[in-house]
Amino acid sequence: MKVANLVLGGALAALGVGAQAQTTTLKIGYATAPDSHYGVGSKVFCDQVEKGTQGRYKCQYFPNSALGGEREQIEAVQLGTQDLVNTSTGPVGNFVPEVKIVDIPFLFRDYDHARKVMDGPIGQGILAKFPSKGIVALAWTENGFRHMTNSKRDIVKPEDAKGLKMRTMENKVHMDGYRAFGILPTPMAFPELFGALQQGTVDGQENPIPVILSAKFAQVQKHLSLTGHVYSPALLLLSPKVWNKLSDSDKKVFVQAAQAAGAAQRKKVNEDEANGIAQLEQQGMKVIKTVDKPAFQAALKVPYEGYAKEFGADNIKKIQDVK
Ligand code: PAF
Repeated sequence: MKVANLVLGGALAALGVGAQAQTTTLKIGYATAPDSHYGVGSKVFCDQVEKGTQGRYKCQYFPNSALGGEREQIEAVQLGTQDLVNTSTGPVGNFVPEVKIVDIPFLFRDYDHARKVMDGPIGQGILAKFPSKGIVALAWTENGFRHMTNSKRDIVKPEDAKGLKMRTMENKVHMDGYRAFGILPTPMAFPELFGALQQGTVDGQENPIPVILSAKFAQVQKHLSLTGHVYSPALLLLSPKVWNKLSDSDKKVFVQAAQAAGAAQRKKVNEDEANGIAQLEQQGMKVIKTVDKPAFQAALKVPYEGYAKEFGADNIKKIQDVK
């Protein structure tokens, strides 16, 4: 009997019946805290992937820039030494130039407009450009509309920003625009930013409310102006090393999970936009809610001529015309 059991067990094992499926652990990194918009989106992605692959894939999380700045993490995903990154488009244009158009300041009217463009043929067409650069873009997530903070003064109009040394992302499209506001842009990776604000190496920075909240910038910045001067899209990027090993049905699970992550991340951005400003005021920030947006937009006349040359005036108009 014992011998028969052994023989049967051996035969089943040889067929793979009853054998435990192997679990692959994927490293996912992002810049902010686990309870931030990036944390919420990343968790939804990982939970859905784990469930949809019956535990064959799960994640190990690296929040708070534990794997480096966004540019370094994108590079690592491209090389295959990191599996996933949930990142803003800030440095992405250096890898996939077609992304840069969505970084133009004052391109999007509001969240509805931006999300419609990302979910529509223009945004989906941009995602399709990634594989030829050795990166898989699973879906758009979201960082949010960026606002200015600084330690010196209230900013209502571009003249108020003049001469302020502000940390920006390593993004030429942004920097060209911000120079026209009179700002002195200082590109710097995000992990260095809190210290730079604390030490006064820079006067200010610009980021969406969810980042200002989760990075605790109220501790080192007094003035917040709701400039909403640029929409900051984000993406869930996967290494082709992982993607190329997935079955067609697992690929579907990954893409659907990333889309669910995008929806959850946007919901958290909405919540932070609704509740975060009052929280930042309680933490001591002076918030300028009404800024002279037409004056900021007017200051962008010359940069927009450059954007039109680089990206095509018709392509910019196509985005502006999405209703
Ligand atoms: O300012 C940045 O670099 C980005 O907005 C951040 C905070 C890394 C989130 O994508």
